[in-house]
Amino acid sequence: MKIACIGGGPAGLTFAISMKLRDPAHQIEIFERNAAGETFGWGVVFSDQTVDNLMANDPVSGRLIADEFAHWDDIEVHVHGECVQSSGHGFIGIGRKRLLELLSDRARSLGVVIHYESEAAPDLAAWEGWDLVIAADGANSRLRGAHADSFGVDSERRANRFIWLGTPKTFAAFTFAFEQTEAGWVWAHAYRFAEDCSTFIVECAPATWSRLGFDRMSVEDAIAQCERIFARYLDGQPLLSNAAHLHGPAAWLQFRRIICERWHHEKLILLGDAAHTAHFSIGSGTKLALEDAIKLAEVLNRPGLDRIEALAEYQAERSLEVLKLQNSARNSTEWFEAVDRYLDFEPWQFAYSLLTRSQRISHENLRVRDADWLEQIERNFWERATGEDKPAPPLFAPFRLREMRLANRIVVSPMATYSAKDGTPGDFHLVHYGARAQGGAGLLFTEMTCVSAEGRISPGCTGMYAPAHVAAWKRITNFVHDHSAARFCLQLGHSGGKGSTQIGWEVMDAPLSSGNWPLVAASEMPWSATNQVPRAMTRDDMDVVRNQFVAAVQMGLAAGFDMIELHAAHGYLLSSFITPLLNKREDDYGGSLDNRLRFPLEVFAAMREAWPADRPMSVRISATDWAGEEGVTPDEAVLIAEAFARAGADLIDVSAGQTWAEAKPVYGRLFQTPFADKIRNEAKLATMAVGNITDPDQANAILTAGRADLVALGRAHLIDPMWTLRAAAAAGYREQFVPPPYLNGMSQLARTLQREAEAAAALRA
Ligand SMILES: Cc1cc2nc3c(=O)[nH]c(=O)nc-3n(C[C@H](O)[C@H](O)[C@H](O)COP(=O)(O)OP(=O)(O)OC[C@H]3O[C@@H](n4cnc5c(N)ncnc54)[C@H](O)[C@@H]3O)c2cc1C
Ligand SMILES: Cc1cc2nc3c(=O)[nH]c(=O)nc-3n(C[C@H](O)[C@H](O)[C@H](O)COP(=O)(O)O)c2cc1C
Repeated sequence: MKIACIGGGPAGLTFAISMKLRDPAHQIEIFERNAAGETFGWGVVFSDQTVDNLMANDPVSGRLIADEFAHWDDIEVHVHGECVQSSGHGFIGIGRKRLLELLSDRARSLGVVIHYESEAAPDLAAWEGWDLVIAADGANSRLRGAHADSFGVDSERRANRFIWLGTPKTFAAFTFAFEQTEAGWVWAHAYRFAEDCSTFIVECAPATWSRLGFDRMSVEDAIAQCERIFARYLDGQPLLSNAAHLHGPAAWLQFRRIICERWHHEKLILLGDAAHTAHFSIGSGTKLALEDAIKLAEVLNRPGLDRIEALAEYQAERSLEVLKLQNSARNSTEWFEAVDRYLDFEPWQFAYSLLTRSQRISHENLRVRDADWLEQIERNFWERATGEDKPAPPLFAPFRLREMRLANRIVVSPMATYSAKDGTPGDFHLVHYGARAQGGAGLLFTEMTCVSAEGRISPGCTGMYAPAHVAAWKRITNFVHDHSAARFCLQLGHSGGKGSTQIGWEVMDAPLSSGNWPLVAASEMPWSATNQVPRAMTRDDMDVVRNQFVAAVQMGLAAGFDMIELHAAHGYLLSSFITPLLNKREDDYGGSLDNRLRFPLEVFAAMREAWPADRPMSVRISATDWAGEEGVTPDEAVLIAEAFARAGADLIDVSAGQTWAEAKPVYGRLFQTPFADKIRNEAKLATMAVGNITDPDQANAILTAGRADLVALGRAHLIDPMWTLRAAAAAGYREQFVPPPYLNGMSQLARTLQREAEAAAALRA
């Protein structure tokens, strides 16, 4: 094949080498706009796995590259004048310039022709006579731009500013240095990549950037300013720029996240940064570029595969890898953009939060990397939680809300069981809640328990509006208190426009086939075209409903609950006031956020009045409507949480969505935890994270990183009431309360899990 490769970066060169190795008959010419040896940037980091891939693809260039790697193990996080150092991280780095030299020498030795100082035309029409044109022309790819519609390009420019500098100062560890200036925080990501040189990327928020005058400074002045800010890390060594083509403020970049729906168009194929980008803070752009190149060469040369099949396989495999890394990269990018919220953490917690920011490195990964360091982190967590010096998993640390002490941080999330009769919980509920309380969670929530018959979601919902309900719930709270260490929270709600629907395992959210009851909501907005149109509440209706909530609180007290939660999420009655998507009122209860919150806050305040001052209350909110600026945004969620806190909420139960049938939720592991993090650390309130949290490792990471104070699990608890006991057995944690009749089972499980862990460790060693 006759192939034109646009761009002599890591992707283009590796592709050319990989093609020639597989079939020397290919005619491959690289067109690179820069002169030979002229490149911008300093070092790049790799993982061991990327090196293995390089070696397997081409042992000759792989060996040359591996021989030049700088290795380091430690990460140092400098903040507030302290340094937190952890080990076992295993990085390797090489200068970008050196990497390109080695790759271009190797490419030429295999017969690849490289045309330097050769600007390639972006239009495919200019490439007649070539079988394939490879767009390896980087993040700002002109070839991709010329055919943007065909590739389905999605590009997003991120807020922070950064400048890619180098320095002769050699850092012994991968160093994150956070410095406070009068204009805000500025930080550096620094690592050694050669005997005598380190990368030194300086980053800050856009407002800090302008306040420091970087937006109007020459590169020389900006560098001098950075040298002053980071003087204590540089030992008198200079900072250097090699981006000769970028002048003044233009030397400061903003990361552009690129995703393409399709990676090829006619004979044009995207490769490396032209197809996708990953934020520099997770250091994977070059790895992705190299691995794309190897895969593309492999499928193009595999006998029996036609070009369509080859390109389909290339895109399917590589885009999956890219997606995984882009998710991590997004978390990492957002962490640096939101860093202000973590800067009042103690340095150990700040460092932990930084190390786990992308969610690629978990709590237990950190134990494998540096067990002593993690043990000290756990001790710090316990010391702050209890004053005790105890090396135990954070999820077992107690937590206090007013006078209620929770034995640990695990919570059974509220989950409708649709098994009540006329609102009365029965034997099913006794066994269901009893088993989950005995399973060890510190806090147990009831399902949404409705304050009136017409406020039920379905005929199977539990209620708290009749004397029979009080007695039935009392039987359950007695069991929980007599036979477990769990505290028990009553979640109270009113279904509003989402009421009178079938039970969960019938048709979700669909009206009953017969016996529907009339609905009220903030506005006459049906949940969907098939749902009833609710009546917009009058002020008299509001009085009635508020009084129903108060009466339910009083009954909850008589029934023996430890805590009350107000359900103001998921599109039910109170949520229908809060979200502008369901609230179309033109009176004092619609329009601005203050107005939309007026009735929910009135209800909460009245409940708080009726509930003893020594017992806590929480509120469940949807922290986003997943509807962009049209609905509740995470920024607004912070204001909503603050408003409820002012009305006496001790904990914000941070859920999301289910407020609008057209919403576009983004699911995934821990998908709602970022909202709990935002509310906790921007509003400085206690939060509970929930949503696709499944294992103790995740719970420990959330808690230790200060992303939430409690961790709730819903579906995981439906299928495994003993989740917390299992976690205690696996961690060898002995202070967890175990119902005495189950003690033998617990010690057997602990032994079995310990043996399994030892066998796995032996295998790893
Ligand atoms: C600050 C920063 C730090 C980074 N740190 C790391 C890191 O630690 N680890 C890591 O793996 N990655 C890192 N990256 C990302 C990494 O640099 C890229 O992901 C990687 O270089 C992608 O390789 P590529 O070959 O696809 O594109 P590039 O390296 O951008 O190469 C594209 C080439 O195409 C040439 N070109 C462009 N247009 C034309 C044209 N029209 N005609 C001819 N030639 C053209 C360019 O001159 C360039 O040489 C970092 C990036 C930045 C910005
Ligand atoms: C079957 C089922 C019933 C639920 N019922 C309620 C409920 O009554 N009240 C509530 O606030 N959330 C309810 N939820 C939401 C859960 O509390 C939880 O937020 C959600 O399941 C996400 O957590 P998970 O990924 O751990 O399951 C329910 C979820 C499920 C799956």
